[in-house]
Amino acid sequence: MEDREALLEDARAQIDAAADADAVKAVERAFTGKKGSVSALMAKIPTLPPEERKAFGQSVNELKRAIQAHVQARLDALAAAELASDREASDFDPTLPPPRPQRGSLHPITQVTRELEDLFESMGYEVLDGPEVELDFYNFEALNIPADHPARDSQDTFFCDEAGHLVMRTHTSPGQVRAMERLEPPFRIVVPGKCFRQETTDATHDHTFHQMEGLVVAKDVSVAHLIGAMKTLLAGIFERELDVRMRPGFFPFVEPGFELDARCPFCEDGCSVCKQTTWIELLPCGLVHPNVLRAGGLDPEEWSGFAFGLGLSRLVMLREEIDDIRHMLSGNVRFLEQF
Ligand code: PHE
Repeated sequence: MEDREALLEDARAQIDAAADADAVKAVERAFTGKKGSVSALMAKIPTLPPEERKAFGQSVNELKRAIQAHVQARLDALAAAELASDREASDFDPTLPPPRPQRGSLHPITQVTRELEDLFESMGYEVLDGPEVELDFYNFEALNIPADHPARDSQDTFFCDEAGHLVMRTHTSPGQVRAMERLEPPFRIVVPGKCFRQETTDATHDHTFHQMEGLVVAKDVSVAHLIGAMKTLLAGIFERELDVRMRPGFFPFVEPGFELDARCPFCEDGCSVCKQTTWIELLPCGLVHPNVLRAGGLDPEEWSGFAFGLGLSRLVMLREEIDDIRHMLSGNVRFLEQF
């Protein structure tokens, strides 16, 4: 028994003295390996009187386990010490929060679109989507702009096929007819989205821009309803009541058609935004032309409506004081970071 206790003590002392993991393992092999001292004890078993063998064997096994446990404890302690000294040596601070991934922000057009969607939804409108590549039928024909109508010239169109049946929508108005086909009147809808025109670009024109179409279809809709709705809309956008005025405007799909101007929200007696006129041109609108109602499958004797086309890009530029529309879709991070 004493020989085993001495052996264990010796093993522990050597393990504790080992300076690194390799040294610890070498000590372990010297004791528990094939040619180690523990194996040598095992080899003695057959020479013992039979009644002692079992107890002797058990005690040698215990000894082996005790050595192994001590080896593991020493290895753990060495690893912990190494980690601690590594940390000491570097300026790594494990208690600091990890660096946060950089997050972007919503594009100003997305922000305004969502705000307006909320505003319109609060007034009972439904938000619809329409395709950006549109059939000629919805973009022109159904909007009372037949094939040779000169109004097509003012909408510098990107055509997608030789025959000209597919176009990049030049406005969100095709959403009007799609809505009439899908919904049971009376209804109120807005259709926000991208529009495209083959345009020579400058500070106020881009080939890609955003609009939000509005359409209300009900019985006996009048210009008074239109004006009322537009004033509510502007109060929502500019957060106060603004005077409006209507000038006649021609769009084949409304009759009568208007350009709605609002009192400049930025000044009292003229500024650069309103070009010293105190009025800003805000949105074209009008009462839905009977031909458009018909194209949408509605009887103009029974149903009527008003429509408006909000220039989202323009609105964002006004609100955020952006002087060039081409910044909007430039993808320039330094521009986008400001919002
Ligand atoms: N779709 C027209 C345009 O982009 C604007 C408009 C919309 C006019 C609705 C009247 C009514 O030019």
